[in-house]
Amino acid sequence: MEQVKIFDTTLRDGEQSPGCSMNLKEKIEIARCLEKLKVDVIEAGFAIVSPGDFESVKTISETVKDCTVASLARATVKDIDAAWEAVKGAVDPRIHVFIATSPLHMEYKLRMKPEEVLEQAGKMVAYAKKFCSNIEFSAEDASRSDLDFLSRVVEIAIANGANTINLPDTVGYTTPDEMRHLISYVREHAAGSEKAIFSVHCHNDLGMATANSLAGVLGGARQIECTINGLGERAGNTALEEVVMALHTRPDTYGGVTTGIDTTQIYRASKTVYNIIGQTAPLNKAIIGKNAFAHEAGIHQHGVLANKKTYEIMTPEAVGIVANSLVLGKHSGRHAFSQHIEELGYTLTKEEIDRCFEEFKDVCDKKKNITDADLEAIITHHAAHLIQEADENGYSLDWFQTSTSNFTTATCTISLIKNEEKFQAVALGDGPIDAAFNAIDTIIQPSEHTFDIFSINSISEGKDTLGDVTVKISSHNKTFTGRGLSTDIIEASVNAYLTAMNKLAAFEAKNQEAE
Ligand code: KIV
Ligand code: ZN
Repeated sequence: MEQVKIFDTTLRDGEQSPGCSMNLKEKIEIARCLEKLKVDVIEAGFAIVSPGDFESVKTISETVKDCTVASLARATVKDIDAAWEAVKGAVDPRIHVFIATSPLHMEYKLRMKPEEVLEQAGKMVAYAKKFCSNIEFSAEDASRSDLDFLSRVVEIAIANGANTINLPDTVGYTTPDEMRHLISYVREHAAGSEKAIFSVHCHNDLGMATANSLAGVLGGARQIECTINGLGERAGNTALEEVVMALHTRPDTYGGVTTGIDTTQIYRASKTVYNIIGQTAPLNKAIIGKNAFAHEAGIHQHGVLANKKTYEIMTPEAVGIVANSLVLGKHSGRHAFSQHIEELGYTLTKEEIDRCFEEFKDVCDKKKNITDADLEAIITHHAAHLIQEADENGYSLDWFQTSTSNFTTATCTISLIKNEEKFQAVALGDGPIDAAFNAIDTIIQPSEHTFDIFSINSISEGKDTLGDVTVKISSHNKTFTGRGLSTDIIEASVNAYLTAMNKLAAFEAKNQEAE
């Protein structure tokens, strides 16, 4: 069976989306998920962009063992040098060289004549090839390029050693028919095209990224570039979970091609990424949304009970979603707990199990019925907490007390701990959460930032549900995300706020060190 390679760019194009910047530990956590998913290529970043980007591409290259690791590079010597330095420690490194080929981009962005672009593409692919045998060439804005010119550029890239040719729909402008034609036209007209794997990279501005990528496969593409949850510039990139499940569900339509993805890891990877960027999936999001497998209408429920296939084209288990059943309670022991976590598909170290078990017992004291959704929230929050904790050694909550009513101003007294020292403050606020945040600010005196997002979501049904709080703040052109989880939403909010603030402080400390 022919395989379509899955090239994941969550850590590069995905991270470029507003509010989705990640720190090194978070990127490594995502790279581990991608390895478990068995993606073929991880685009770990754009090494030249900043020392931080360089460091993360390098670290991921040295960490990942089972996937190709790529760095993006413009078609310049400096970019390619940085990309190679960053990926050369990988088991299978790839340099991804790109240059724009549409009239609009060549004239206004590059200020280069088509013949100069042609020459630069050839020269820079040859330059990259001196370092690395695995070279991908991308013709940025391919979908708005002249097809004959594009074919010439591709021909030159292949002649100089590119083994993968990517034809992106950079601005999400194309349609499925056009994408299929684009790929098959260039494959037919560029000499040597049989030596390269053709790839699609679609943006979702018109909501057609998945359809366009699949159409590219019909045109002969054998690599799809995509991101977990469809993260990416503007309206995002093709969602990995959508193209993979489309190919798995409809082999009849896509010529029987398959992917090497372990689809049972999709849901966990999606959760991990949402958790790290501080977002939750829209309820109706394809494949991984809460309602994607829910059957509300009576007639549908009746059909599903009689035969699942009446309304289910794929099973929730196929993407790693387990039934949201009542599972464990106050009297469950550590053994039952760790066994259940394994059944949910998580592999934790002994230390992680111990800490999650402690957290689980705490939640049991406050909440009678613990569901799989609660357990997953505990595990993913714990992972995020470890990432943060290892990073900053910052402030943590000791205790707080709030007082609020509908006829007085709310107050909060709070005690924080940092390096075993205690700090206390009291503050007023417009409600107990505002008062708590003001009290925290009094202690930590954060540097200038904007407060972008504060959201509270419930993990499961019922009044005693766990509250999942996200706080996003921005400073230094970066976003810092904190998450908190508790049946008490003020406690969850305080923890989320402290996490975001600790991340900001750690970032500033690191930058000061570098200076
Ligand atoms: O959208 C795009 O064209 C890209 C390329 C740099 C591959 O991200
Ligand atoms: Zn892109």
